[in-house]
Amino acid sequence: MRSNTVSFRDGAVEKPVRPLDRRRILLGVTGGIASYKSAWLARILTQAGAEVDVVLTRSAQEFVGAVTFEALTGRRVHTAILEPGQALEHIKLARAAELVVIAPATADFLSRAAAGRADDLLAAILLATTAPVLFVPAMNDRMWAHPQTRANVVHLRELGYRVLEPDVGELAVGEGSGPGRMPEPETVFAHIGRLLEPATGLTGKRVLVSAGPTREALDPVRFISNRSSGRMGIAIAAAAWRRGANVTLVHGPLTVRPPTGALLVGVESAQDMLREIAERLPEADVLIMAAAPADFRPAEVAGSKLKKASAPSAVPLAATPDILVETTGARKVGSIIVGFALETDEPIANARGKLARKGLDLVVLNDARESGAGFETETNRVTLLARDGTMSELPLMTKDQVADAILDRVGGLLGGH
Ligand code: CTP
Repeated sequence: MRSNTVSFRDGAVEKPVRPLDRRRILLGVTGGIASYKSAWLARILTQAGAEVDVVLTRSAQEFVGAVTFEALTGRRVHTAILEPGQALEHIKLARAAELVVIAPATADFLSRAAAGRADDLLAAILLATTAPVLFVPAMNDRMWAHPQTRANVVHLRELGYRVLEPDVGELAVGEGSGPGRMPEPETVFAHIGRLLEPATGLTGKRVLVSAGPTREALDPVRFISNRSSGRMGIAIAAAAWRRGANVTLVHGPLTVRPPTGALLVGVESAQDMLREIAERLPEADVLIMAAAPADFRPAEVAGSKLKKASAPSAVPLAATPDILVETTGARKVGSIIVGFALETDEPIANARGKLARKGLDLVVLNDARESGAGFETETNRVTLLARDGTMSELPLMTKDQVADAILDRVGGLLGGH
């Protein structure tokens, strides 16, 4: 998710990122205990620049008040279908919305929507809008599992509505845990961003991304690794998913939160990463190797913990497999392969060498000596070098913005230009 609080330096000017600038979103809130999460959703949508029109059903108002949403969105909140002077409100709101999100959507509301009812403002808006609609169900796990609710969800999906799966987790107090929890507002936000994204060259493509370091065991408790946080690969996976791709993220141990939407495959060693990438590569339209697999591993792994008293004076090392090189034969014809190059000396020449040696279409060059670039930072400054010899030096940007720049380029390569 792109955050609006992250700023980047453009000369001396700090520019906030507002990914939903002026997008008109209708947030419908129905009467579930999870409606407290919708207040946070309204807030993050507004912070991201969206103009959020909130519609509360009668039962939603038992849980949260209109004043809360009015204060969070800075806009009038709508509650009734028939108010003097507002007779055509449902039509106006339905027309203005670029996206309708119902969060939380109760079992009762799913049922009314599936039946095409128009007996309150929110239900009437659903019939009057042509915008995409996202339902975010939240209810007791038995209500979610009931065949009637399942049938309603199937029918809603047949009608073209998006219905998120609820999270598995703790439900209302005393109700234990199960599927039924409303997904976190940040997750809903990511889905909204994806639905609002215009179609690009990446829509519907299979994108395989690697991220993070690997760990190479010395004994059951010790390993060799590196300082990669996984941030760059996570930003790429998130941005590719937002652009409509089906994303698989093969990742080593991460120190940051994994992205929404991508299928996550966790691995430990470079050998594990090789296996998981090789298995998925034949289906992939794009491979982006943002991981920093270890180049060496201890030549031997001790079966039990090495004791201090018998500490070896040196650890013999062996090379790990080069994943890009080893999997060359598994690539799908016409797929786009992107590698990274982290360099300290003669960066351009070394990056060009990797482009040729590893059979890449694009290499993303990081200069490890630059501050604000490379490992353990929120920002990156990269140069993109393509197989056709072109080179573009990008300014210092957030990793989210670097991800977008890389994917713009990949989209162009997929389209054949
Ligand atoms: N890479 C890989 N398998 C490895 C190591 C690296 O596939 N065992 C990939 C990285 O994910 C990256 C690219 O190769 O996309 C270049 O990684 P980098 O560490 O810059 O290069 P190395 O191949 O390790 O070469 P050197 O250490 O000589 O710079």
